[in-house]
Amino acid sequence: MSHNKSDIEKRVAELRATLDNYNYQYYVLDNPTVPDAEYDRLLRELQQLESEHPELVSADSPTQRVGGEHSKKFGDIRHELPMLSINNAMSTEEVVDFDRRLKKTLNIESVEYVCEPKFDGLAISLLYISGKLVRAATRGDGYTGENILHNAREVSDIPKTLQGTPFEPNIDLFIAETYSNTVPHKIEVRGEVYMKKSVFENLNKKLVNKGEKLLANPRNAAAGSLRLLDSKKAKQRKLSFFAYSIGYVSDEFELPQTQFKRLKFVEKLGFPVCDKVKVVSNVSACIKYYEEMLIERESLDYEIDGIVYKVNDIALQDKAGYVSKAPKWAIAHKLPPQEESTKLLSIDFQVGRTGALTPVARLEPVSVGGVTVSNATLHNMDEIARLDARIGDTVIIRRAGDVIPQVVSVILEKRPPDAEEILTPTNCPVCDSPVERTKGEAVIRCTGGLVCSAQRNESIKHFASRKAMDIDGLGDKLVEIFAEKGMVKTISDLYRLKAADIAALERMGEKSAENLINALEHSKNTTLPKFLYSLGIREVGEVTAKNIAHHFLTLDAIINASQEELESVPDVGPIVAHHIRAFFDNDENIEQINELKQLGVNWPDIEQTSDDELPLKGKTYVITGTLDGISRTEAKSKLEALGAKVSGSVSSKTTALIAGASAGSKLKKAQELGVEVLDQSFLDSL
Ligand code: IVH
Repeated sequence: MSHNKSDIEKRVAELRATLDNYNYQYYVLDNPTVPDAEYDRLLRELQQLESEHPELVSADSPTQRVGGEHSKKFGDIRHELPMLSINNAMSTEEVVDFDRRLKKTLNIESVEYVCEPKFDGLAISLLYISGKLVRAATRGDGYTGENILHNAREVSDIPKTLQGTPFEPNIDLFIAETYSNTVPHKIEVRGEVYMKKSVFENLNKKLVNKGEKLLANPRNAAAGSLRLLDSKKAKQRKLSFFAYSIGYVSDEFELPQTQFKRLKFVEKLGFPVCDKVKVVSNVSACIKYYEEMLIERESLDYEIDGIVYKVNDIALQDKAGYVSKAPKWAIAHKLPPQEESTKLLSIDFQVGRTGALTPVARLEPVSVGGVTVSNATLHNMDEIARLDARIGDTVIIRRAGDVIPQVVSVILEKRPPDAEEILTPTNCPVCDSPVERTKGEAVIRCTGGLVCSAQRNESIKHFASRKAMDIDGLGDKLVEIFAEKGMVKTISDLYRLKAADIAALERMGEKSAENLINALEHSKNTTLPKFLYSLGIREVGEVTAKNIAHHFLTLDAIINASQEELESVPDVGPIVAHHIRAFFDNDENIEQINELKQLGVNWPDIEQTSDDELPLKGKTYVITGTLDGISRTEAKSKLEALGAKVSGSVSSKTTALIAGASAGSKLKKAQELGVEVLDQSFLDSL
């Protein structure tokens, strides 16, 4: 395809203007309006055009600069050494090419690399003089950044004082490997401030409940938090930090001569260094590492958007040198993006067990990180209003880990003239009962109760689920089939199912029918906490159900308990107590319970336990890392209900540390102190 010169010039100008605008939104406003993948595509198109037409390159092109401008909020700091960026490789071929060029430049057979995750947060520079943190700055435009010392001090991972003995001026040369406990007079450590996925999800959960604006992604949450004026608020955001390089070091100090040893050195100074960092002996091992991390990515508690390969030997790094804004000795191998843009086709309202209507965006299918996404949650009407989402809009969606994909933002520039506003439904889409919105709540609800087949079906699914009656083999799909055929209208109908009727269903044979009947029989022998939980009372989760059961001991006592008596149970506040009362005040619910008992559902009495007999009395636990299927708060209540104390930090008095996935500094501390470390199975066994 041939273009004439002015077409190319026009395109170059257009790309620069667009990229400048995106940079401004990303770096200065912390509010990206396009997915990173789209940004990268445009930047690469511009790079390509500039390399084909070098006469068009200009010093102010986005290809020549590191990032956006810094904002002026907290005053500027000029970096001692520029904070560079890294060139990207979008494919294995580009990585192999990079390695080939390097080998040629360095005139060696193969290059040893350090493989590091590319953390998706915010680059910062930390300056220590005589071992004390004296300055912290964002990267800004690479030369000048913003002063963020007040907030950096609130990041618990960032040491305020370095470990080791600060430099004494009467010794003229320190060699870090020999004098392993010395701290340079002046040292600048660089790394990434980020927000853990678990922290981000909790924060957003709280914001949804409060009906407040959600944070787009952990990167934005971290960037926004670091730039808050009020450092108390920044502290609440619970940011984390990984160190990945050293910037300036005062002359008296000689640093170790490989990247990996430098990381070990900063670790000794007290910085967290990611434990996935690995030295490999050649490029094929880099690719192998990449593929392993591609799988591991979802289970990490921090977001990564690539793998950085860095030449390990510093002398070789120096020999390779730099091009304009990036080193020639490092490359970032991009992982598939977790955000993409697509079209919002329509909105459906899903009705949950408690009648809550959740708007679900139906999307033009798009592949995000290798998974096709065609639905995403919009949480509630407030969120739709805040995003100003309309049908026909181009939206950015995000899929990370196993959480439901989310609509993050709307690309207003791409709104078609006929985009349609999304209206709050006045009636339930399933049963047509009117919907209501309780004051102070962000959700709208169907008022149909058990008249609503959606609520009925969801209650039955909940009743059968693993943590409830645990009816093996009775999944969501099968419940829907039973409901559709009119075989099951209430939870008690489950125990009236006949093997012959089940066997007659499509794709069910006699054997599976028999298995299901056996599972139903088996489920009849349950416990009071499980039975109570399986009733699906609003706000009564597994832990609350257990606390209530152990407090009242019998179902009759619970049914007859007053609002006040209910409120005396740990974990039960006025709202929960109200929901419990309302549930048992409904005759249909009492009727269901009686029928279930008649059909054989039963549980043993709970023995009265006095406080002294609580099995975990006198024990103190610390919980860390990401737990699977149970929140920290739930885990805490579970332990406390058994008499244990739950503390926030590990000390020699800690009975045991319960460590979920990607446990970090607390795990290290426990190991150092010889405190017992338990995994999640301990919680599950309680
Ligand atoms: S090294 C000369 N290592 O990536 C290389 N950067 O484009 C300087 N980043 O925003 C950076 N993880 O904050 C390096 N393990 C890692 C990194 C990393 C994330 C970010 C960095 C900057 C961008 C560089």
